[in-house]
Amino acid sequence: MASDSYNRPVRILITGANGQVGRELVSQAGADTFFEVVGLTRRQLDITHEQDIARRLDEYRPDYVINCAAFNRADAAEKQRQHCFRLNAEAVQRLGRACAERNIPLLHLSTDYVFDGHYASGYSENDAVRPLGAYGESKWQGEELLRRTHPRHIILRVSWVFSGGGHNFLIRSLEQARRDTELAAVDDRRGCPTAAADVARVLVAILKQLSCGADAWGTYHYCGAEVTTRYAFCEAIIATASQYEALKVERLVPVSSKDFPTEAERPATSVLKCKKLLSTFGIRQRPWRNELVDVIRHHYERF
Ligand SMILES: NC(=O)c1ccc[n+]([C@@H]2O[C@H](COP(=O)([O-])OP(=O)(O)OC[C@H]3O[C@@H](n4cnc5c(N)ncnc54)[C@H](OP(=O)(O)O)[C@@H]3O)[C@@H](O)[C@H]2O)c1
Repeated sequence: MASDSYNRPVRILITGANGQVGRELVSQAGADTFFEVVGLTRRQLDITHEQDIARRLDEYRPDYVINCAAFNRADAAEKQRQHCFRLNAEAVQRLGRACAERNIPLLHLSTDYVFDGHYASGYSENDAVRPLGAYGESKWQGEELLRRTHPRHIILRVSWVFSGGGHNFLIRSLEQARRDTELAAVDDRRGCPTAAADVARVLVAILKQLSCGADAWGTYHYCGAEVTTRYAFCEAIIATASQYEALKVERLVPVSSKDFPTEAERPATSVLKCKKLLSTFGIRQRPWRNELVDVIRHHYERF
């Protein structure tokens, strides 16, 4: 940050501001006087357009850019490979280059899907990647292009992001539980659900420390505490939502991922180890079960 900027809030520009993490970040950072927030939706800044990026960066002159824009649908990515790579890889490189040219640090989100899921004990930042599908591959390529383009970056890999809106496992499970008496969920895929609000909390904490001079660029992992399965996560969603609404579902059936074919192969165990984030920034994992209670309460308060 320039020396004349110490007496004013830290200006952050958030791309993909209408997504799960984008919305939470705009809301949390926006409520904090430490920050001045510019949240841009896809309509306001399409990150696949190089000229739009340059125009917005020069218009707002942010101290930091946080990229929450992505093509996130793993199955759709198999059929829309080109679009997926254009957004998750090429656009990230363009954004990185534009930020580097203006000396603006870039915080970027990535995913557990860069791993193949064969390490039952979980993955550290230095473990070898081997994405199983187009989505994971495009996110890995985006990471690598950013590393080469802009040294002052943070890549935060997160997993199983959920919130009370948008497209995610929680919303899909709730919709099905309202419609059907029986619901099936995979019980041989393990991971850590992470509330979008919790990801936003972590980004805010990182941004504050960077703004205070922390020189800690690089790649980090974050996910909610407690490893679980899709089945157990779904069970927790239904149990919590049942306190607010009489759901139609009567039975939750555990199924093997083999009996639940999807377009994209998914990692069997995508647990992210979060020690580096703790030792560098002092940021602890929060239990996803607590976050889930808050998310579902807010979800019902809104409707
Ligand atoms: N969701 C997960 O389970 C998960 C897991 C691991 C990692 N992540 C990573 O976490 C990050 C945030 O995920 P999320 O769940 O918040 O995603 P999300 O809800 O799908 O939000 C992505 C946002 O990007 C916007 N977008 C799409 N194309 C764009 C473009 N060309 N220019 C600008 N914005 C564009 C979308 O706009 P519209 O609203 O107009 O579509 C959407 O608002 C992503 O990097 C993702 O890869 C997510």
